[in-house]
Amino acid sequence: MNVLGINAVFHDPAAALVVDGVTVAAAEEERFSRRKHGKPPVAFSTWELPEQAMAFCLAEAGLAPEQLDAVAYSYDPALAVQPGDDITADEWEGLRTLYARRAPLFLKASLPGLDPERVRWVPHHVAHAASATFASGFDPCSALVLDGRGERASHLAGRFAGGELEVLAAQALPHSLGLLYEELTAHLGFRRSSDEYKVMAMASYAEPEFLDAFRELVRADGEGGFTVADVEFARFAPPLAPGAAFTPAHAALAATVQRRLEEVLLDLAGWLHARTGDRDLVLAGGVALNCVANSRLWREGPFERVWVQPASGDAGTALGAALHVAHELGDDVRPMVTAALGRGWDDEALAARLRTAGVAFERPDDLADAVAEVLADDGVVAWFQGRSEYGPRALGHRSLLADPRRAANLEKLNDVKGREQFRPVAPMVLAGRAHEIFDGPLPSPYMLFTHRVRPGWEERIPAVVHVDGTARIQTVDAAEDPLLARMLERFEARTSVPVVVNTSLNTAGRPMVDDPRDALECFGSAPVDALAIGPFLLRRAGVPGAAGEGVAGRRSVAAA
Ligand SMILES: [Fe+2]
Repeated sequence: MNVLGINAVFHDPAAALVVDGVTVAAAEEERFSRRKHGKPPVAFSTWELPEQAMAFCLAEAGLAPEQLDAVAYSYDPALAVQPGDDITADEWEGLRTLYARRAPLFLKASLPGLDPERVRWVPHHVAHAASATFASGFDPCSALVLDGRGERASHLAGRFAGGELEVLAAQALPHSLGLLYEELTAHLGFRRSSDEYKVMAMASYAEPEFLDAFRELVRADGEGGFTVADVEFARFAPPLAPGAAFTPAHAALAATVQRRLEEVLLDLAGWLHARTGDRDLVLAGGVALNCVANSRLWREGPFERVWVQPASGDAGTALGAALHVAHELGDDVRPMVTAALGRGWDDEALAARLRTAGVAFERPDDLADAVAEVLADDGVVAWFQGRSEYGPRALGHRSLLADPRRAANLEKLNDVKGREQFRPVAPMVLAGRAHEIFDGPLPSPYMLFTHRVRPGWEERIPAVVHVDGTARIQTVDAAEDPLLARMLERFEARTSVPVVVNTSLNTAGRPMVDDPRDALECFGSAPVDALAIGPFLLRRAGVPGAAGEGVAGRRSVAAA
């Protein structure tokens, strides 16, 4: 069966394609449109579809729209507020429902040849859950979904067994842990449903001073759900203007909400485990991108293994909806084995693009070692390899790399990306060596947990150690990503450190680089010393070994 999954309702529009139970492509629209998060999450943008992501998915499998057996849409308008209902929260809510109901016609217009009867609506949180249950390969397992909101709920707790999900609890709006965190994000001067990870980073700078108050305001209800009272954040710290410096009170407020979120999640996980007795837990929904909370669940929660969907935001519901429908249609749904599900180019296409751009490049005999040399020499390297990542984390396909031994590299990378200096950058590490350096769940291929940096290592890799002594690591397995692993090995051979700084390849306010042109624009406009794109290496003039310096052992390829 050919099943195309679509997320279009709120933001992070995305498409995913599942063929005979195997995920063959998944991508977010922002990577094509270059508009961060794709579109605003307002009701009157609901008609907009991830057109370029859909077209990419079909092209990747060589399918025409008429060959689709189903289109799975990750929102069920039948469950939502109906037009004309008594709507207290948002007068536009009925419009969202109308647009979602008309999605088959919008899809038919975007995908000529598609039979609109093949469109199926999948409840938003069922789609989130499926993105973790089917994708993890855990069966049976318990599933916890937490986000800002779906149709009328903000949470789902369930048990997954034999490919079927049994919903055990669902928290109705307006109570929402995701929206609480969003409100705080806006209060602290950041962009809501976008910059929540900045709040998580800020939380490390203070103690949770207001915990007593928040234990009253936000409570698990003992029945698998929770209540969130109206919170007057200004009681604890005044609202911050965008870009304004935060005070200790702001950091204490961030720390408090973060801590209370962790406590409630532990409570919900405990309730769920008491009912299922499962060994494994899977997580999805935007709250599951909170790697500090995930780590606490792993460390202190009742489940042995915790698996988190790397595209846990709404983009991931495109994949979840497709996996859910593929199972309904009788396919044997296979687990997700990589997040590298986006666009990729072969060597010839990359060389053609570089020649068109008129840039000098070389093809080193050992690209991994050439990059390790630039890094060990304190250079910043843009690393563009294979297919782009699905989800918000760069995982060694569209990454910016640097030497973790120099603390100043944190500042340097935050400057490249126009980021606040209080935010950490993360390390990638050889999978087989991770346990020597980091304490936490291993392997950790998707950067969804924070790990404690072991004694003796903080001083050796200061650029990647956050103020609280943790690091959000990515483990790199040579069997899955041999080039990346070799680069880490060569870096270790030169420095005795099997760790490299990894942050996403983008400049300030832009989505992650996706295609070769984006990579060249980033390389040309940011202080990046080298670009490793496929087998090719571009060096900024003045970087040791730059084209024209005639370094032995390298074949220089002049621009056409
Ligand atoms: Fe969601």
